[in-house]
Amino acid sequence: MEGDRLKKALLTGVGAAAPTRILTNYDFEKMVDTSDEWIVTRTGIRERHVVEDGMVGTDLALEASRQALREAELSADELDLILLGTVTPDFIVPSSACILQKKIGATKAAAMDVVAGCTGFIYGLATANAFIRSGMYENILVIGVEVLSKLTDYKDRNTCVLFGDAAGAVVVQAAPPDEKRGILSAFLAADGNLANLLHVPMGGTVDPLTPANFERRGQYIKMAGNEVFKSAVREMGEAATLALEKAGCSPDELTLLIPHQANIRIIEATAKRLGLPMEKVYVNIDRYGNTSSASVPLALWEARREGKVKDGDLVLLVAFGAGFTWGSVLVRL
Ligand code: UT7
Repeated sequence: MEGDRLKKALLTGVGAAAPTRILTNYDFEKMVDTSDEWIVTRTGIRERHVVEDGMVGTDLALEASRQALREAELSADELDLILLGTVTPDFIVPSSACILQKKIGATKAAAMDVVAGCTGFIYGLATANAFIRSGMYENILVIGVEVLSKLTDYKDRNTCVLFGDAAGAVVVQAAPPDEKRGILSAFLAADGNLANLLHVPMGGTVDPLTPANFERRGQYIKMAGNEVFKSAVREMGEAATLALEKAGCSPDELTLLIPHQANIRIIEATAKRLGLPMEKVYVNIDRYGNTSSASVPLALWEARREGKVKDGDLVLLVAFGAGFTWGSVLVRL
């Protein structure tokens, strides 16, 4: 994008939140036929955070968003747009973005949810980039938030050990075209042929929730884990490679790769595809499990807090999820 005269989208604030209640692998040993050893070796997960009754996704989103706005030194009423990635909204209608808009007092902001599975935050960030580069908006809040514990079947060992709850948020602001920092490239993709490999079969308009469907546990996430795994390895690698290529960058210029945290083996395969040592890859799946669209902004927030990345560093964000969807954003912080 050398020489283009469009505005740059700068990440000026980051925030995150996770509930305090923790479920460890040992808790799952008491619930289903599993073991800490199986979960750690097959997924890398040791514990995950889950909400107490009464806490909803927009509560977590509010906490993360307030932090991000504080860091950006921006007040909520200066926001032009809220893009909220989630597959676990407070309600089917209205959007969680609108509920957050009210809770945070973003009176001038348009607001919409972005439903793209675990790629929801990346889709939101790429969309924010496009709005800013087009000149339409200056100040955008992008969130990834999930309360997956509400869609998790705690009787199904294939899925229940995987998921957790969290939120992450970034403030994205317009900067002059010659700014060296900001989003350098974005890549998004989808393949609806694979929709049934990872889905919630009931509760939509095709098969609404009825007492009989409830009995069949159709309101919970179903996943053909191994097939999803193979696609994830392929598409995370593709997304990571293409964002770098688009910006004319090579993997060894990266300070850090921040991948979606679904499985440590998928993360390692993505690093290998890029030829990156694991020291250059952020991993927190051991402490949070898979938090879907919250995982990338949560990891970005932690990486900054731990000093693993600082302003000026080149960071690649990449995710894969239900839909299927996959995508990546290359950003100089
Ligand atoms: O967020 C984006 C989308 N999600 C993902 O990217 C997740 C992708 N998938 C995965 O991470 C992995 O496929 C899983 C962790 C879900 C499963 O690992 P796997 O190595 O693919 O195992 P598998 O599904 O092939 O199952 C192997 C065995 C099966 O037993 P049998 O049929 O060989 O006797 C499962 O029943 O492991 C069994 N198994 C378990 N055993 C103990 C499945 N879940 C468990 C469990 N504890 N929790």
